Amino acid sequence: MATPLVARRLREGQLKQSPIREIMKLADRRNIIAMGLDPDDVISFAGGWVNHKAPEELRAEYSTISDDPVLFHELGAYSPTRGLPNLREALLSVDATLYGTRDLSDDNILVGGSSTQLTHTLFTTLLDPGDRVVLFDPSYANYGPQLNLGPEGTEIIWLPVFDAERWAFMRDRESIVSSFQALVSEYDPRLLLFSSPDNPTSRLIPDDVFDDILRIAEEADCFVIVDFAYRAQCFTEVVPEHFSASPSEHPNLIRLHSNSKWCRGLGRRLGWVEAAPHVIEALEIVQQSTALCPDSVHQYALAAYLTKALSDGSLQSYMNETNARYEKAARHTTECIDRYIGMPRLDPQGGLYTVMDVGRNGDEFVREVLASTGVIFVPGSGFGPSITNGVRISYGPLVNNLDRIEEGIRRVGDVVDKC
Ligand SMILES: Cc1ncc(COP(=O)(O)O)c(C=O)c1O
Repeated sequence: MATPLVARRLREGQLKQSPIREIMKLADRRNIIAMGLDPDDVISFAGGWVNHKAPEELRAEYSTISDDPVLFHELGAYSPTRGLPNLREALLSVDATLYGTRDLSDDNILVGGSSTQLTHTLFTTLLDPGDRVVLFDPSYANYGPQLNLGPEGTEIIWLPVFDAERWAFMRDRESIVSSFQALVSEYDPRLLLFSSPDNPTSRLIPDDVFDDILRIAEEADCFVIVDFAYRAQCFTEVVPEHFSASPSEHPNLIRLHSNSKWCRGLGRRLGWVEAAPHVIEALEIVQQSTALCPDSVHQYALAAYLTKALSDGSLQSYMNETNARYEKAARHTTECIDRYIGMPRLDPQGGLYTVMDVGRNGDEFVREVLASTGVIFVPGSGFGPSITNGVRISYGPLVNNLDRIEEGIRRVGDVVDKC
């Protein structure tokens, strides 16, 4: 009997597993046992997720829903495609109050299932076949594969932002801006996409670079999507100005948000986009086909929680308290790297990661370190060619267990010269 084949792009390998997923598979319990290691003794710095508890008040909103048979039933319905009006309003108020973002109204926002889903929805909405998209090298490892899944023939143009010699992110600001200007003139890209704080470097785009890049893109009719997945984890004393840059002033600016890293609960995810009204209208049409609407229960619970927590001040306290914990874990991780391993690494300005220079192919290093210590890092190659000799180290999942961070880094330090 003939077996139907999957699509050509998958048969021919244009779409494939990400290197991060491969390392996660390598770290699978059965694999660990097959390597002769004790899975309970493995220390993983691979996970790109947070590990603080959601606010109790958010959990209480879920209890209200499940205790109320009428509400429970009503929330079984589809929400509007653009999201529940109360949530849209609450998200805009949170942004205006906590970050000072100006002049965004209901026409500027659409809620979706997650920022991953919305990234795909944005590509369908903004790109024509064969368009060019600029990504920073390095960049979040999912952007490249997601673009490959976008309109046929989308071309990725890499903008190098990392100096591997000096192990520094955006060291030479002028040359980054002039390289972007040159890329724009040569390739006429439709879109630039990056995150700030960034995954994997946990560095922020400096405000002056942000302003220059946004202006150059605006003049060239190029959209700029800023992925704010880690905006709640920011360790600088002064909040960066670009956190409040508004699409009402810059119609080519699109802000992409996720609640996965700051207010997640019950494994339910949401994302939202703020952009010019014509972009939101187009996104709504695409979202009708990709998701129909986001999760009603989480939208309802989050809207109720945010509305109360913003007005009584508990949202700000929750965010300050969790941010302080990630900052502490970040400082602890880099101190341990300096003490036990002594390899160059980046100072996180936010986010969940640091990137360490291992001075050789990161993929091989990760495999050897796992086999000899039971410690899991993520190879840098999945994020872009500039950090092939690096590994990403995540302190997010271990935020409540600083001793475990120390133990893992110490183990690697013990073997590092022998690898
Ligand atoms: C930069 C960045 N954007 C988006 C996501 C995914 O967010 P979501 O859970 O909303 O899909 C991640 C996940 O790690 C990320 O690192």
